[in-house]
Amino acid sequence: MPNIIDGKAISAEIRRELAEKTQVFKEKNGFAPGLAVIIVGEDPASKVYVRNKHRACEEIGFTSFGYELPENTTEEELIALVEKLNHDNRVHGILVQLPLPRHLDEEKVLLTIDPRKDVDAFHPYNVGKIMIGNYDFLPCTPAGVMELLRRSHISVEGKECVVVGRSNIVGKPQAMLLLQANGTVTICHSRTKDLKEVCRRADILVAAIGKPEFFDASYIKEGAVVIDVGMNRRPADGKLCGDVDYASVAPHTSYITPVPGGVGPMTIAMLMQNTFTAAAKMGAK
Ligand code: GUN
Repeated sequence: MPNIIDGKAISAEIRRELAEKTQVFKEKNGFAPGLAVIIVGEDPASKVYVRNKHRACEEIGFTSFGYELPENTTEEELIALVEKLNHDNRVHGILVQLPLPRHLDEEKVLLTIDPRKDVDAFHPYNVGKIMIGNYDFLPCTPAGVMELLRRSHISVEGKECVVVGRSNIVGKPQAMLLLQANGTVTICHSRTKDLKEVCRRADILVAAIGKPEFFDASYIKEGAVVIDVGMNRRPADGKLCGDVDYASVAPHTSYITPVPGGVGPMTIAMLMQNTFTAAAKMGAK
């Protein structure tokens, strides 16, 4: 039987640790780490994510600043707000919830965020630092995956790691972090020739392609560690599911993350950790 990696419990543990550190931080410095979250428009999924971020701040003892801008906000208005927050010394982390409405240039907006406050680690400066291996922040989802492995005592060193997906937010940085942990890393994508054969080599498989229950047992080496980053709706019943067909795959793994309750809850924990790091670097005594 596989070990089920309980992301919900591990995330709660990290948030508990952060709440304790934050109390000490506040007593020492006289202020709390502050996170500003900007949302533009009415996307219902984004609204839920943003609400959860504010809730996590409250629970840990951070100050959170919420900005809900209308769908028709101009690029100039959004950039002006980011610049104002760059100069607000109560704000240590700035997050612009993605996706933005189509008339706004995401890259331009993200470039405006002060890299020291870039708690998503999406700014090219921070992306470059990650490539070099000398970073302050890691993007939240890949960092969450590494933390799940670490806290489950799964060693990456020397392992065949296969990352399926090459997005800037997950696949590419995930591959880099596994490499830095001394894994032998392969990145697969939609043009990979024999995806199944490559996946079957994996000691650690990270699935991040956004296709509901795509990976069945035929993709899995017996005893592999399977990390499911997918967050999809199952067409048959509309329920939340991952990229991995859990029922088929789980019996063949040594460790597996469920969806929901695996990687998902880690993303917010890592965002909170990045905000604490930003505050400690910028303003702490
Ligand atoms: N939308 C979905 N995930 C994320 C994330 O990690 N950061 C931001 N800024 N937007 C998102």
